Amino acid sequence: MTERTTLAGELKWWQRGIIYQIYPRSFQDSGGDGVGDLRGITARLPYLASLGIEAVWLSPIFTSPMRDFGYDVADYCNIDPLFGTLADFDELVAGAHALGLKIMLDYVPNHTSSDHAWFRESTASRDSEKRDWYVWRDPAPDGGPPNNWVSFFGGPAWTLDPASGQYYLHQFLPSQPDLNWRNPQVRAAMGDVLRFWMRRGVDGFRVDVIWLLAEDERFLDEPENPAWTPGTVEHAKLDHIYTQDQPETHDYIREMRRVLDEFDDRMMVGEIYLPMEKLLPYAGTADAQMVHLPFNFHLILLPWQAGVVRAFADGYDAASRAAGAWPNWVLGNHDQHRFKTRVGAAQYRVAQTLLLTLRGTPTVYYGDEIGMQNVPIPLDRMVDPAGLQQPDVPAASRDPERTPMQWDETENAGFTGAGITPWLPLADDAVAVNVAAQEADSASDLHYFRALSRLRREHPALLAGSYTSLDTGAEDVLAYRRELEGETVTVLLNFGAGTHDLGDLGNGDTLLSSEGDRPQPGAPLRPNEARIVLG
Ligand code: NOJ
Repeated sequence: MTERTTLAGELKWWQRGIIYQIYPRSFQDSGGDGVGDLRGITARLPYLASLGIEAVWLSPIFTSPMRDFGYDVADYCNIDPLFGTLADFDELVAGAHALGLKIMLDYVPNHTSSDHAWFRESTASRDSEKRDWYVWRDPAPDGGPPNNWVSFFGGPAWTLDPASGQYYLHQFLPSQPDLNWRNPQVRAAMGDVLRFWMRRGVDGFRVDVIWLLAEDERFLDEPENPAWTPGTVEHAKLDHIYTQDQPETHDYIREMRRVLDEFDDRMMVGEIYLPMEKLLPYAGTADAQMVHLPFNFHLILLPWQAGVVRAFADGYDAASRAAGAWPNWVLGNHDQHRFKTRVGAAQYRVAQTLLLTLRGTPTVYYGDEIGMQNVPIPLDRMVDPAGLQQPDVPAASRDPERTPMQWDETENAGFTGAGITPWLPLADDAVAVNVAAQEADSASDLHYFRALSRLRREHPALLAGSYTSLDTGAEDVLAYRRELEGETVTVLLNFGAGTHDLGDLGNGDTLLSSEGDRPQPGAPLRPNEARIVLG
């Protein structure tokens, strides 16, 4: 069978566009309490539109006691007062749509908050109508937890409810009890949550820990992971063969997808940390009604080396094509250290260029477009439960990548008013690294980001074209061609500090260079340079 190339005009919005993640606590405070909110985001819509992005994904904004900063939902169909009201939300959606931006919400189906009415009812007695909405088990014969499963944040994944004498499962905090997705009533109630927001105009969902929905019914101990190294999180000590990636999860996703398909042109992207061969079966294709995009986090997880990235990109691109799945790429999110800090400042634009020119949908984390870095958080300001519960694992806290957006050089960087203490400290470099300063500097990271997003729109080959990596003869250089209907765009990325003469490779007009100039066709690739050429 000959493969037909996709034409740029045939792409769906979630294939064509850039998804931009906002961590609402940290984007813009309008209420003067040091925490970002919906009205703040609405006020920044013109900025978001100026980035040339397609969709904005908001981390959770629902009613929550905020023990995991919103990933512990107490009411799926309301907005937490910290962020505003349903009316504020409607205004945000209307404002975004007026500017051509889609709105995606964070759907958290694996667990609720222990403050959710469902859990309260479930805990009320063993005979409660909602008892089976959560995962309850009798203690082990010694009275301890039913098995050895551990929470992502350290410690057992089970907590005893003394009143009933049973343990409930929580893969995260004890205040985040796991819903029992085997129960059809749970699935129906959670489907209604999706309908509620789609009726309000929501275009799509990022689905939290979607690969964890089902557990093996035998509740056996998980085996030890021989690759675990001390100093890393306790959760990695076990090989999660009974709590992750279970066959039933695929059935639940198909059911979720049917709900989405009741509405026009909606999508979901699933949070899934799995190796490629286990990740791709989650992808929606002509034959599989699964998630439209299963997040591909491998650029975050792989060593930053040209050869390693090439090998992965080649394999993933080919496997996606074979499966009929649309690829996607991520460099950062609210759970991962800032990519500029990870790859190093010198490689920042190389990484940004890679993200925005590989075949597939890129997801961008707020602030990465201006080069925000990890912010060291003093112990007495640490708030992330993942860090607080695992003091022996210094990298466990996610606070450093969640700090307030840097808008300008004023006190609190325009995130909140002067004299107000923001919920997390601002970066020391906010005076220099901020949106206002970068707007005024045509050589800034912000303008570089906009140039990349513009190139994507101007060159259909970058959106819909094929991907072919090229032999460069230089270990540090990754090069690939994107081709569509006679147009060829070549991307040259120097992962190292050497200069490389690449001969005929990319011997065309420069469309963009990370150095801010337009080198002559065939000019050697400079240290840490990213260059995009025509032809
Ligand atoms: C994954 C989310 O990305 C993370 O921030 C959260 O702590 C856990 N799921 C629990 O919901």
